[in-house]
Amino acid sequence: MKFFVDTADTDAIAELNALGMVDGVTTNPSLILKSGRDILEVTKEICDMVSGPVSAEVIALDAESMIAEGRKLAEIAENIAVKVPLTWDGLKACKVLTDEGKMVNVTLCFSANQALLAAKAGATFISPFIGRLDDLNMDGLELIADIREIYDNYGFETNILAASIRSANHMSECAKIGADVATAPPGVIKAMANHVLTDKGLDQFVKDAKQAGIKIV
Ligand code: E4P
Repeated sequence: MKFFVDTADTDAIAELNALGMVDGVTTNPSLILKSGRDILEVTKEICDMVSGPVSAEVIALDAESMIAEGRKLAEIAENIAVKVPLTWDGLKACKVLTDEGKMVNVTLCFSANQALLAAKAGATFISPFIGRLDDLNMDGLELIADIREIYDNYGFETNILAASIRSANHMSECAKIGADVATAPPGVIKAMANHVLTDKGLDQFVKDAKQAGIKIV
């Protein structure tokens, strides 16, 4: 499973990138707002840092304007994936932009039917939002599994990009289901390293090393 980082924080991207943890980046208007930076400037900086796809989201609601915005975003760098919402107009924009050879990430997906439409429209990525479904007492992971089954049934090449990930557990569950990509905030990716037994075991080793007088360098 590929790891995308769900942030526009370039310091956080750099830290994970240095460890080989960044296969791509996803942003959205809320993350751009959080960064406090200009969308074109920060997106360009991110594209220069990572070689994988960097999702940048349109803000228009009608297809024609989404296409114009998507073309402008795609000019930033070759690794831009234009992010469009899963609306009828978003699907129209997806078809036009993918026909032009651009990568398109169809976002705000909350049902298997929506994912089916995105694949038919040629989406490069479909972004089902796990956490926001879980927030409503629905099952976000079940949606990932349903989309996996449907895409595999028909050989759709659209990549399942599990989004709105809130926990380290979401990451391993997505990997078990077979999501192609999971995009997660930097804190969630780092939290994947945590285990209480690792902390406990290390604590004991440190104590014993001190008692044994072990010195290595
Ligand atoms: C990524 O593409 C999505 O925009 C993001 O994962 C949404 O996450 P949230 O539901 O935590 O805002």
